[in-house]
Amino acid sequence: MGYAVEVGSTSLRSMRNTIISRKNHQTMPPNQRSRSLLQRHRGKLLISLTGIAALFTTGSVVVFFVKRWLYKQQLRITEQHFIKEQIKRRFEQTQEDSLYTIYELLPVWEMVLNESNLDLDSIITQLKDQKNHTTREKSVKSIESSPLKTKAELWNELELKSLIKLTTVTYTVSSLILLTRLQLNILTRNEYLDSAIKLTMEQENSNKLNSRLYNWVTSWWSNPEEKMSDATAAKDTKMDGQEVYINEQAFLSLSWWILNKGWLHYNEIITNQIEIEFSGVNPRDTLTLEEFSSRLTKIFQNINSQIFQENNDSLLSIFLPKTSSEQEFLLSQTLDPEALESFHTNTLIFKQLINELTQCIESTVTSIVLESLINESFHFIMNKVGAKTMAKKKPGQEDQQYYQMAVFTMSIKDCCQEMLQTAPGSAHGGGVNEYLATLDSVQPLDDLSASVYSNFGVSSSYGFKR
Ligand SMILES: *[C@@H]1O[C@H](CO)[C@@H](O)[C@H](O)[C@H]1NC(C)=O
Ligand SMILES: *[C@@H]1O[C@H](CO)[C@@H](O)[C@H](O)[C@H]1NC(C)=O
Ligand SMILES: *[C@@H]1O[C@H](CO)[C@@H](O)[C@H](O)[C@H]1NC(C)=O
Ligand SMILES: *[C@@H]1O[C@H](CO)[C@@H](O)[C@H](O)[C@H]1NC(C)=O
Repeated sequence: MGYAVEVGSTSLRSMRNTIISRKNHQTMPPNQRSRSLLQRHRGKLLISLTGIAALFTTGSVVVFFVKRWLYKQQLRITEQHFIKEQIKRRFEQTQEDSLYTIYELLPVWEMVLNESNLDLDSIITQLKDQKNHTTREKSVKSIESSPLKTKAELWNELELKSLIKLTTVTYTVSSLILLTRLQLNILTRNEYLDSAIKLTMEQENSNKLNSRLYNWVTSWWSNPEEKMSDATAAKDTKMDGQEVYINEQAFLSLSWWILNKGWLHYNEIITNQIEIEFSGVNPRDTLTLEEFSSRLTKIFQNINSQIFQENNDSLLSIFLPKTSSEQEFLLSQTLDPEALESFHTNTLIFKQLINELTQCIESTVTSIVLESLINESFHFIMNKVGAKTMAKKKPGQEDQQYYQMAVFTMSIKDCCQEMLQTAPGSAHGGGVNEYLATLDSVQPLDDLSASVYSNFGVSSSYGFKR
């Protein structure tokens, strides 16, 4: 798009220069020398003056045509500029939509987390019950088969689970943001490309101007080797609007996977690492912030080396269902039976979309962006947990460098809650989720989104390779 506009303005500039130099030539003031020349060659000049007059007339006709051409050109450029602006605005809107989608999805995942064994509040409740003799005696009498955990056991559990939850939230939310950006940018690109091409082709056809844009569009449109030939094929088989809609809905519902199944992969790797690094640390033990940070760094590094392992599709199986039966299960969970039946009559666009998404997720570029998001999350966590831990100092302990692991545990629990918090309407200027806002502004994420958004269906040649 931008390319064509540049081509237009270059020829515009050179045309303008030509006109300006021509004008200068015509209005050059006669000087003494030319006057004496005029006197000396009066006869010759009288003849050639008629020629000049004729030339001048022709010249003004040319200038008139050039002006009219320029005017038309200007209109065309304004239109192209308009399309360009629209495409740009659409891009910004898509990134905002992605963030809004995360705000909608986060409570869904929080519900899944509340049902899982990472519900920290139930441990807190049990700790409180520990102190309450009435409840203690009651439960001892009522459920003799499951004896109450001791206070130390509960604290140990709280310590490990809060660390596991914090890290799981980090990896899952980072992945969810990435996945949503990829999904929405792929979908929006297909949509705008469709309408932009239609508009441009109408214009170009009526103008009959042989611009690069026209060539680009038509070559793209007719080149059967391009990846998007699938889409052209889809148009040939005349998929109706409803079918396209269901295909796109099925594609969007893929985020169900990470929120219900995929995150458990993370959880498994993370639990293992946290236990290695922290099971020897008692809630009563003390650590400095630096010591805590270096332990967490080690954990993040080990997790990263596992998930970003080469020739390992563990990342892909976190993001997407692996087998067709898993995919079928996912769709049965997200589409209603009628939609599902209609979906199965034509899955062409879904397959094409999922192919591109898979290619994106498998690319090194995406791994680097995910790593950036995780790094950013790590800084966010350390700042938050550090600040919360220091704020828990009692008067007279201002110089203290060491903190009980139990204090870190409570800070981590609070941090988790903040990272998952989505007050109603929070996406619209209410209580902003600071963590989401931080991730949303990570530059490599925008870069990747832009490259997906402007990737005209030739992903294999745009660096989406391992
Ligand atoms: C999950 O549990 C927390 C703490 O008990 C609660 O504040 C939150 O509302 C729950 N979220 C959902 C979506 O049920
Ligand atoms: C102890 O538990 C009982 C019932 O479970 C409750 O009524 C009472 O208020 C609790 N006491 C304290 C001190 O929390
Ligand atoms: C990929 O990595 C995960 C986590 O380290 C591991 O459990 C799995 O066995 C690996 N898979 C392959 C195919 O190497
Ligand atoms: C993430 O942080 C680690 C450790 O500081 C660093 O080695 C790595 O290059 C960072 N990755 C990205 C993508 O910024």
